[in-house]
Amino acid sequence: NHYTIAVVIGSLRKDSFNRSLARALAKLAPPEFTFKQVEIGDLPLYNQDDDANQAPSVKRLKSEIAAAQAVLFVTPEYNRSIPGVLKNAIDHASRPYGQSVWAGKPAGVLGISIGVIGTALAQQHLRNILAYLDTPTMGAPEAFLQVKEGFFDAEGNIGPDSRAFLQGWMDRYVAWVRQHAA
Ligand code: FNR
Repeated sequence: NHYTIAVVIGSLRKDSFNRSLARALAKLAPPEFTFKQVEIGDLPLYNQDDDANQAPSVKRLKSEIAAAQAVLFVTPEYNRSIPGVLKNAIDHASRPYGQSVWAGKPAGVLGISIGVIGTALAQQHLRNILAYLDTPTMGAPEAFLQVKEGFFDAEGNIGPDSRAFLQGWMDRYVAWVRQHAA
């Protein structure tokens, strides 16, 4: 069985550590898993008036999530929560009412930050949102990562200090997706 994972990055920054993390993580998965980053930077600001006439970028996002077997959120923490751009994307894909693409879609959550709590509060807020959206979210292991010299090696892979831990995280995510994907 082949699995496509829609990867949602909570940062639009060109040199985003979270985007680098998502790329490095994808290399730790088995070959039957394909990780596809979805674009959220071109979505309009969510406006409920547009529910009946969603923008092409919103329709694209929704069809990419719907077509994937699972989702992976890799997000920074902004002011002790998730970035607005991520919430905007989640809100778009949850609408119109009754046509959310999140329900039943298995998800994994992790992130990396400059700060020492490693996106812990952002992840908790995100889990709260996903619970409401009926998105089954892997509970453990959790991954709270801090940017440090050598976290990524010269090739953009996970450096030696965190590699075994994140391989373990990915192994559990892969098993969990296999178990929960429709
Ligand atoms: C941050 N940063 C941050 N870090 C953290 O650990 N907890 C926080 O609450 C915040 N708050 C915050 C707010 C805003 C508006 C910005 C721009 C930044 C720092 C953050 O960890 C750092 O900028 C990361 O590099 C962001 O992730 P990307 O863009 O590298 O993926």
